[in-house]
Amino acid sequence: MKGDTVVIDTSLEHIFEHINQLPVFPKVVFKALKLLDDPDANLKELADLIRYDQGLNANFLRLANSARFGLSRQVTRLDMALALLGIDQIKEVLLVSAAKPYLDKPLQGYGMSGFELWTHSLAITVVSEVVSRKMGIQDSTTLFTACLMHDIGKVAMNVQIGLKNSEILQLVHQENVSFNEAEWKVVGGDHAVVGSEILRQWEFPFEIVRAVRNHHDPDLYIQDELSLWLSSCNTMTTLMGLSYGLDTFMYKIHPDLPKKLGLTYDFLFDVLQDSVIEFEKTRDMLYL
Ligand SMILES: [Fe+2]
Ligand SMILES: [Fe+2]
Repeated sequence: MKGDTVVIDTSLEHIFEHINQLPVFPKVVFKALKLLDDPDANLKELADLIRYDQGLNANFLRLANSARFGLSRQVTRLDMALALLGIDQIKEVLLVSAAKPYLDKPLQGYGMSGFELWTHSLAITVVSEVVSRKMGIQDSTTLFTACLMHDIGKVAMNVQIGLKNSEILQLVHQENVSFNEAEWKVVGGDHAVVGSEILRQWEFPFEIVRAVRNHHDPDLYIQDELSLWLSSCNTMTTLMGLSYGLDTFMYKIHPDLPKKLGLTYDFLFDVLQDSVIEFEKTRDMLYL
């Protein structure tokens, strides 16, 4: 019957038009990160900046009181909690707290239930930290941020992909194309391009926008170091068994990737082993 049918526009233009319906990433996080980049960073200034954000406040206190620190006395003040954490850890809590409301939802369109996108997003940040430590990557926060936000485009495309996923999977199986190539053929774009547009609108740094855009496209990520690391961390997270949904193991890897980054089997094995251990320690962040 006419009038009973709701037609959902699955075009990329429609998805792009609706990006601004997502609440904007909190600006206080960027301000706090900038403050922490100042070598004379003062934790009191930071506490003053975030004191009125109840969610952030609660997350810092919860983490300071978690088993990780094993304190005998309860930490009840934000400045005390901040003093317990290192600068990098404070940055991570800020980013993870702000990202969680966007990423801890089920994405039926991509075949991901409850906590799966959130678990994947947090697991890849753990891999990024292990990689940054082992490779001596200076700006580990940039790689951490790119990893945390890399699949944000799936949130905006979930409904459209849900309507088209059988068509996409048919293409993947019959034409031997990767999941993102099939997304391009069917919807006119993939979650990488949509995610990068979201991050551009939220004024994330350009190199992060670019790396997210490139993360499944071997011809693009091979040209840029941050994109290469993001794509590698994503693959390693899949190898840890912490990628979920219809698209798992459905992406192409550039044959020159290991050579470009100087990766060896021993290195990969080491990273995977450490990441599994580290991820267990980070589980409390899942519930922030
Ligand atoms: Fe992705
Ligand atoms: Fe991913």
